[in-house]
Formats: sequence, structure tokens, C-alpha cells
Amino acid sequence: MKYEPTGLEIFLTRFSFLFFGKFVYKTFADRLPIDGGERVLDFGCGMGTVAYFVAKKLPQGHLTCLDISERWLNVCRKTLRSFGNITFQQWAFPVLIDESFDVAYCHFVLHDISDSDLKGVIPALAKSLKPGGVLVFREPLKQTDKISVIKRLIEGNRLFLKDSRITDIPLLGNALESVYIK
Ligand SMILES: C[S@@+](CC[C@H](N)C(=O)[O-])C[C@H]1O[C@@H](n2cnc3c(N)ncnc32)[C@H](O)[C@@H]1O
Repeated sequence: MKYEPTGLEIFLTRFSFLFFGKFVYKTFADRLPIDGGERVLDFGCGMGTVAYFVAKKLPQGHLTCLDISERWLNVCRKTLRSFGNITFQQWAFPVLIDESFDVAYCHFVLHDISDSDLKGVIPALAKSLKPGGVLVFREPLKQTDKISVIKRLIEGNRLFLKDSRITDIPLLGNALESVYIK
């Protein structure tokens, strides 16, 4: 379901990015399997909280920032204005279906998507990966039912669990981080 953020939501997200960015978003970016030349997809990029740290790790690579919200994408363009290796894209089916990405990640996105929409989103994400490509998500652990749906759909789309961990994130609480390989 599409929604646009309020000015207050954008302000609060900017504030937490400024003061907690290193502890909340950089820790996730630093664990992504990136060497510097990959093609990477940030699905549900928001204001570019994680993308900001990922873009720095891709001197020879490319980052696609995708979001359903035009307003978040505009804020993301501002966050990432100093980088030249980024494409911004508003989500619409079936834009993701070419198998071009080495890494795709979702940071606090999938739990917000309805089960029926996830049935379209997760196959599209799986298809967007090259063979051997990696899908990483970090989602709130307390949403146990949603996490079960996400895992079932990912595994049903022939991605295999490589690693999983629980992290306690400042402001966001406990989250599940899982890495799948195609
Ligand atoms: C809680 S925010 C997280 C943003 C960012 N990943 C972060 O961690 O700061 C969720 C984001 O997912 C986006 N989103 C929700 N449903 C989506 C969909 N179906 N396709 C793409 N983006 C979506 C929202 O617009 C929002 O920017």
C-alpha cells in the first residue's frame, strides 16, 4: 500500500540518522557482502539512511535506491547528492525482473508490506538477483507472524538461508537479520 510521509516523520528520521546513523544503519551496511564493484539494490530506501553508508563502499559499483514513495525518494536524492553512482527508482511492478543485482537488501521494509503484496514483492526481489546473488533483510523480531511469511516466501522462491542473527539496535529494538543466496 502506498503512503507518503509527513513532514514530522521526515524530520524525526533525519534527526535519528544524524545522531544514531553510525549505530543503527552503518552497522547493517558494514555487514553486507560488498567489496566495492557490485550492483546493489536498496529496496524501500526511505531517506537513504542505509544507502548513504552503502554508497561509500561502492567506488566501482552501482546502487539503485528504490521506494514506493515519491516524497521519500526526493529526500533520498538530497541525502545522497554527493555520490555519482546511484539510480533512483519509484517502485512499480515489474521493474525489478532483470537479473542484474549482486546484492539486494531491505532494512525495516518488508514488515510494513501486506501479505498479499509480499507475494508479488518477494518473487520480484528474488528474480532481480544474479545467480549467486544475495538478499539481506533486517526486520523487527517482534513481528513473528510477518517474519514467518517473509521466510516462507523467500525460501519458496529458491533462495537459500546462508546466515541469520538477532541484533539489538538502538531505538529500533531487537531485529532479525538474515542473508539468503540465490
Ligand atoms: C520504515 S521505512 C524504512 C526506510 C529505510 N529502509 C530505513 O531503514 O531507514 C519503510 C520504507 O519502505 C517503503 N515501502 C513500503 N512499501 C514499499 C513497497 N511496496 N515498495 C517499495 N518501497 C516500499 C516506504 O515508502 C518507506 O520508505
